[in-house]
Amino acid sequence: MPDYDILHKILDLARWAPSGDNTQPWRFEIIDHNHVAIHGHDTRDWCLYDFEGRASYMAHGALLETIRIAATGYGLKAVWVLRAETSATAPIYDVEFEPDSTLMRDPLYPFIEVRTVQRRPMRTTPLTANQRTAIQIAAGEDYTVQFFETLADRYEVAKLLWQNAHIRLTCPEAYVVHKQIIEWGVTVSQDRIPERAVGVDPLTACLMRWVMQSWDRLDFFNRYLFGTIAPRIQLDFLPAVFCAAHLTIKTVKVPETLIDFVSAGMVMQRVWLTCTANGLFLQPEMTPVIFNWYSSRKIKISRLDAVNQEVDKLAKKFHAFSGSRTEQNVFMCRIGISSHPSSRSARLSLSDLMWRLE
Ligand SMILES: Cc1cc2nc3c(=O)[nH]c(=O)nc-3n(C[C@H](O)[C@H](O)[C@H](O)COP(=O)(O)O)c2cc1C
Repeated sequence: MPDYDILHKILDLARWAPSGDNTQPWRFEIIDHNHVAIHGHDTRDWCLYDFEGRASYMAHGALLETIRIAATGYGLKAVWVLRAETSATAPIYDVEFEPDSTLMRDPLYPFIEVRTVQRRPMRTTPLTANQRTAIQIAAGEDYTVQFFETLADRYEVAKLLWQNAHIRLTCPEAYVVHKQIIEWGVTVSQDRIPERAVGVDPLTACLMRWVMQSWDRLDFFNRYLFGTIAPRIQLDFLPAVFCAAHLTIKTVKVPETLIDFVSAGMVMQRVWLTCTANGLFLQPEMTPVIFNWYSSRKIKISRLDAVNQEVDKLAKKFHAFSGSRTEQNVFMCRIGISSHPSSRSARLSLSDLMWRLE
């Protein structure tokens, strides 16, 4: 039977699973020597990008899949179930561990901690057939992966992201999120995104930090001083062109339930770790997918009409780009070869992540 020390080691490794804006929407409760409860939460009450908690559910899925992979390093099979009657905003997942002598260590195990997001331009070296196949296999049969690889395709995505970024930068409801999730002046952040991992040069970062101190200042800068241009070039346009490919991942049926998004998160993490194992970096490009969710449900993202109209226009472009079954998109990202980013998000310590009754 697994002992408590092994469960700690598994959780200590699994906490490196990715989450939107490094929010780590989970806490761990060790109930027994073979039973851990994951207390999930979501960030929909303050984060515009966590539409109906979907991004958090995907992060829960990434964590559960990482726990499964980490457990194989100790000859343990991890199986989880969603606890009955838990609420949508605070789902609890019960994970049971069981020794299995037939189990091999998962080949993705060594990449759990080294996997990281790369937001800067990457090389345009094309994907190899092996890399493409590995990604398709990692996604599994219930998901289809679409690759956008040619220069013309990447340019189309760059135009889409250019428009998408204008929404992010001029939407007051997004501003409050950006203000909260960036930790300025650091290269490592335990619970946010460190400034150096955002992907802009130091001068632009300095300016952004100053301008983002108040919405009025940012709004003035955007309106009269072309404030969105430099960040959009650096954060969206150039990275979109300079990469090997963009991917979209679609489910076979329209995702609706919490479990649908948890499953999508498991796939996202398998694909991401597979990219790392194959020498590729990845950056999620989730905001067009998220804005499309808002638009298709006719839910306004902003108090500003101009922003809502832009979201609807973007959704139309996204449909044209992504082809049929747009509502089945659960993930979009870019991938490519690059040097290791010099800055990354770290994580809260295991003891900080332990469940405590408030
Ligand atoms: C569901 C989900 C959505 C994400 N969306 C974006 C995104 O749109 N753009 C981006 O740059 N990073 C995105 N990320 C990456 C996270 O910000 C990143 O994983 C987190 O800050 C931890 O950093 P690390 O991956 O380097 O460990 C997303 C991650 C997850 C799990």
